Amino acid sequence: MAQLTINGRSFSADTDPDTPLLWVIREELQLTGTKYGCGIALCGACTVHINGKAVRSCQISVSEAEGSQITTIEGLDNAGQHAVQRAWIEHQVPQCGYCQSGMIMQAAAFLADNPNPTEEEVVEAMTDNICRCATYFRIVGAVKRAAELMASERAGVREVSDG
Ligand code: FES
Ligand code: FES
Repeated sequence: MAQLTINGRSFSADTDPDTPLLWVIREELQLTGTKYGCGIALCGACTVHINGKAVRSCQISVSEAEGSQITTIEGLDNAGQHAVQRAWIEHQVPQCGYCQSGMIMQAAAFLADNPNPTEEEVVEAMTDNICRCATYFRIVGAVKRAAELMASERAGVREVSDG
């Protein structure tokens, strides 16, 4: 029985210790915002945060995740108003949407480490997340916009988006 902390809540996962975290998140906990894309670390659709870092949940077992703070897209912000989510709406990034939770989680972890990135750094940070709908141009714009929104928040200003 693995003890997991996901989005601030504790869960007991009655599963084989080698089970990928992704399956527990989706199948046991029904947190289906995190997607299965490839299962072999190539697409990023399954990205969650573990202790604040972007991690591919298809590549980490429940036993490895025990004792860590795990955050899924559902827990990124209680109201769905994280700066990255607001920027995503403003830029109308998604097409089919399948890759987008992973993109948002990747971007949020990146901006937490690098709050004022250059465009090249944004492209580099997002390059290993795959979007079959090729929304890449809007993704780069939204990450840059999210950095602006986060800077405003740090300055104590909450920008109101019309997105
Ligand atoms: S499903 Fe995990 S990287 Fe593609
Ligand atoms: S929006 Fe369709 S895969 Fe990215």
